[in-house]
Amino acid sequence: MKNLASSLSFKKKFLIFGGGFSGSFFAKKIRTLGYTALTSSRSKKNDPNSFVFDSDNNKIPNEKIFNGVTHILSCIPPDKNGKDPVLKMLKKHLQSLSLDWAGYLSTTGVYGNTNGNWVFEQDQPNPQQKRSFNRLNCEKEWLYSNLPIQIFRLPGIYGPGRSLFETIKSNKINVISKHGQVFSRIHVEDIANAIIFLLQNRNSLEFHRIINIADNEPCSQLEVIRYCYNLLGGEMPLPISFEKAKNNLSPIAKSFWLENRKVSNNLLCKKLGYQLLYKSYREGLKDCFLKIKEIN
Ligand SMILES: NC(=O)c1ccc[n+]([C@@H]2O[C@H](COP(=O)([O-])OP(=O)(O)OC[C@H]3O[C@@H](n4cnc5c(N)ncnc54)[C@H](OP(=O)(O)O)[C@@H]3O)[C@@H](O)[C@H]2O)c1
Repeated sequence: MKNLASSLSFKKKFLIFGGGFSGSFFAKKIRTLGYTALTSSRSKKNDPNSFVFDSDNNKIPNEKIFNGVTHILSCIPPDKNGKDPVLKMLKKHLQSLSLDWAGYLSTTGVYGNTNGNWVFEQDQPNPQQKRSFNRLNCEKEWLYSNLPIQIFRLPGIYGPGRSLFETIKSNKINVISKHGQVFSRIHVEDIANAIIFLLQNRNSLEFHRIINIADNEPCSQLEVIRYCYNLLGGEMPLPISFEKAKNNLSPIAKSFWLENRKVSNNLLCKKLGYQLLYKSYREGLKDCFLKIKEIN
């Protein structure tokens, strides 16, 4: 992160809407580099770096939160009516701020099903689920907002505290096999690092409005679960075929299995030059595993 100051000069203030898993990770990372970063949550927290924002209950941040803001990042999914919570409540206000940069965390669900083929940023989105249509509409609203927006399309996010290890520990693991089915993933630290890399090098890199952030190795969920059990030194339960398992899955879990695609990171990693910290699930889950061991 040595060049951060080159294009992110000091006195930058980030407002992060949605201080959940990725938002709070990004905030912590950007603070270590010397910047101010405030995160939102729907309920009041005893934390000076936190502010309340809840679009469902019309709770918008106090005016003074916006003083000196240069960058925003939205990590909030569409609301139950499919609207973007931040734009619904704050678009005009954000437009009046003359921001340096605005980021939006989206999903690779907008690409739909490609029967296991790669998806790239220039592909025509082809959402198949209602939530992915909503997401694409939110992306469009950000793109047409006149804000200096950059959209990051993400596959399954994992990291310390939210990984298959926690799912295994809580006995909620579904060991399912489905021929030819792959999933893409990304470690939460690579989301933060990739965004910071793009901000750092903004003056020298071509600007892209839409960028996938995914690791190098889409693969079957079975392979990943097996790797976790190997690290834990336990035996993986016998897999159940998707055909047998599907009736016991929640509608949302089932919908993930009905789409099959590999998310390309060529733009981010080959063209723009970002180097992944966790190139595949192996390095990423090893990190999660070691952090669990540190705690225990
Ligand atoms: N998880 C994944 O695998 C995955 C994959 C691809 C894309 N994404 C997308 O990437 C983004 C970040 O994901 P994440 O897993 O890091 O998110 P997360 O942990 O679920 O956090 C979501 C945040 O949004 C806030 N939020 C939700 N509805 C809101 C509303 N109506 N008004 C105000 N705030 C609201 C939540 O507030 P509270 O803190 O009060 O709960 C929380 O801070 C999300 O848009 C997510 O859909 C996630």
